[in-house]
Amino acid sequence: MNFYLNTLSFLPINLAEPFTVSWTAPSNIALVKYWGKHGKQLPCNASLSFSLRESRTTTKIVFTPAKELKVSLDFEGAENEKFRERLEKFFKGLGEVTHFFKSIDICISSSNTFPHSAGIASSASSLASIALCVSSLIYHVTQKDVDDGFYKLASYFARLGSGSAARSVFGGYSVWGHTNILASNDEFAVPFKSYDPIFHDIQDAILLISESEKRIGSSIGHNLMSKNPFADIRYANAQKNLNKLADTMKTGNLKQFFEVIEQEALELHAMMMVSNPPYLLLEPNSILIINRIKEFRESTGLNLGFTIDAGPNIHLLYFEKDKEEVLPFIESLRQYCEKGRIIFDGLGNGPVINHMTT
Ligand code: DP6
Repeated sequence: MNFYLNTLSFLPINLAEPFTVSWTAPSNIALVKYWGKHGKQLPCNASLSFSLRESRTTTKIVFTPAKELKVSLDFEGAENEKFRERLEKFFKGLGEVTHFFKSIDICISSSNTFPHSAGIASSASSLASIALCVSSLIYHVTQKDVDDGFYKLASYFARLGSGSAARSVFGGYSVWGHTNILASNDEFAVPFKSYDPIFHDIQDAILLISESEKRIGSSIGHNLMSKNPFADIRYANAQKNLNKLADTMKTGNLKQFFEVIEQEALELHAMMMVSNPPYLLLEPNSILIINRIKEFRESTGLNLGFTIDAGPNIHLLYFEKDKEEVLPFIESLRQYCEKGRIIFDGLGNGPVINHMTT
């Protein structure tokens, strides 16, 4: 990608003086799922998601000139060696492109607004907040003012760390991956803005079914797609679903909106069931809740539905205008959630910078 290489090629050999920056970035929930990747973190199909309002990560990074690359991580007051190693790999990757990242001390401290054990993937919000810090550093060193390219660059870096993080550097809805209808691409996400205003008011009640760590993580899941006999059908369906979703969002066809997102969610889990080895992340209570949502929709005629990420939690999506009728229903599902936990989330405005000092 030219602008990425161009930006990095303007960096000096070394950082001259310490630089501190902090960003808060949102998690996101995909409506059309990214599942399967190739090359350097490139998606096998385009995905569309929205950034969350409440589930966020705040990261502060102190960059200091040093003799060699050193990455340290404090996650909510404790060490997290597994995640630190992942971040070190990420920064080593940048060091392959520019010497600048070969001689720098990177001291990261990070915390989430959502409980650590909630079973919510924090890699999207974490990597997005880190990528935004890196972009701030680059813009500071090259003395550039923040422009649209800043967020493209942050999305590009975020993608290298975690695919879904590419979409978390924006507020609202965004698309990552090449499509035949939008000006989107595989390298970084772009905001998706042409939709009916009803979609501004989307709410997401995250029903936490299990707090245990996932049996199979997303990275293994993505890799299993390379030998999945249904992979090509899945990638073609994702493309069709994205086109359909973009269309329903433009026209405000809510019935079709929920049809598409539920098909996407279940197709994602179907891919896990037909992998080799096959596996299941849904729990009995996930299925119970899915059935309750369908029954409630049929009996009330309300516009609501579900999506699911790569885990057992159910994201119940509904609209602000229906809140009074939907909230008692959500409360009736609390008994099926681990420790009765539900996160009331919704569409968010995107990342914010907290401070920047030299
Ligand atoms: C099911 O972005 O977590 O949430 O690129 O390996 O970090 P890596 O995977 P990750 O995968 C997310 C998968 C998903 C769907 C989605 O967010 O689009």
